[in-house]
Amino acid sequence: MHASKGFASDNNSGVHPAIMKAIEKANAGHAIAYGNDHYTMRAIKRMRANFGDDIDAYFVFAGTGANVVALKSMTDSFNAIICAETAHMNIEEVGAPEKFTGCKLLTVPTTDGKIGIDGIRRHLHAMGNPHHSQPRVVSITQATEYGTVYTKDEIADIADFAHSNGMLLHVDGARLANAAVSLGSSLKSITSDAGVDALSFSGTKNGMMYGEAVIFFDKSLSRNVRFIQKQATQLPSKMRFISAQFEALLSNDLWRRNAKNANGMARKLASRLEDALGIRITQRVEANAVFALIPKGYIEDIQRRYFFYVWREEGEFAEVRFMPSFDTTSGDVEEFVGFLGDLMADKKAKRLK
Ligand SMILES: Cc1ncc(COP(=O)(O)O)c(C=O)c1O
Repeated sequence: MHASKGFASDNNSGVHPAIMKAIEKANAGHAIAYGNDHYTMRAIKRMRANFGDDIDAYFVFAGTGANVVALKSMTDSFNAIICAETAHMNIEEVGAPEKFTGCKLLTVPTTDGKIGIDGIRRHLHAMGNPHHSQPRVVSITQATEYGTVYTKDEIADIADFAHSNGMLLHVDGARLANAAVSLGSSLKSITSDAGVDALSFSGTKNGMMYGEAVIFFDKSLSRNVRFIQKQATQLPSKMRFISAQFEALLSNDLWRRNAKNANGMARKLASRLEDALGIRITQRVEANAVFALIPKGYIEDIQRRYFFYVWREEGEFAEVRFMPSFDTTSGDVEEFVGFLGDLMADKKAKRLK
């Protein structure tokens, strides 16, 4: 039987009660569709309070949709987008960015999910050559797919390098809130203040039911965004229900409290796995992801109760990801560690027989 709360993904969690309340409150009477409503105006005001006055923000259904809308707004089909080889947009978006923008993705190898200027520079050798896709966007993920976090200076360096080479910086901020909490910074400080041009900002992964935002710090990029949203099927008619959620998430520091809990539980889980069970943690735990090496022979038994994703296999071991959420408790962590401990002891006893 599956445990009621697991560690597969923050996408597996439910909805924060304050968000649920906001949805219910928005469910009153009629409101003008497609974003011309008071809820959306108020949500954009909250966005500006958190990201800076000089931004444009648009709400979409999903994270892949946010990436596609942002990237399409920044490119022509003869362009290329430089990203980490581990980037979600490279591996887990079924080619949506390539299909929708027509751009080639140029990847940079990485061991911890982060990329740097040297890796990006390697793709710039054919600027101006009409036989090669022209790099126009660098996209980084914050926090990365490996749960590591770029510092503000690292982002600013990439932004400066991109701009001085005629490129723009996009951030896939599926877990930007977790990164900001990890750095003890505001959302603005690691985006607009660091020179980011466009951002995909997730609500779903941090306690919302659904809904993401595309935020432009370079407002000239949002020229055609409404048309792009519509073509990408990312223009919600009952927009008010996403807007009401974002308004709640960005009020009373709910975004920070949710991410703080998820990050704290990740650190706790990592140290309990290491200290109590001797399980090796393979990546720095800087946000809410924990990567661990588990013997392959355990996977099926664990997954029967706790579903999780396997990242890669290495000999006898599999590197797996555990990911706490805004609603994970210390009790959930202890229950999981206890379950794993019992399973490991049982396997050991069987081997010794
Ligand atoms: C880093 C990152 N970017 C984008 C997405 C895409 O989100 P969605 O599944 O809502 O399309 C995810 C989803 O897990 C993600 O982890």
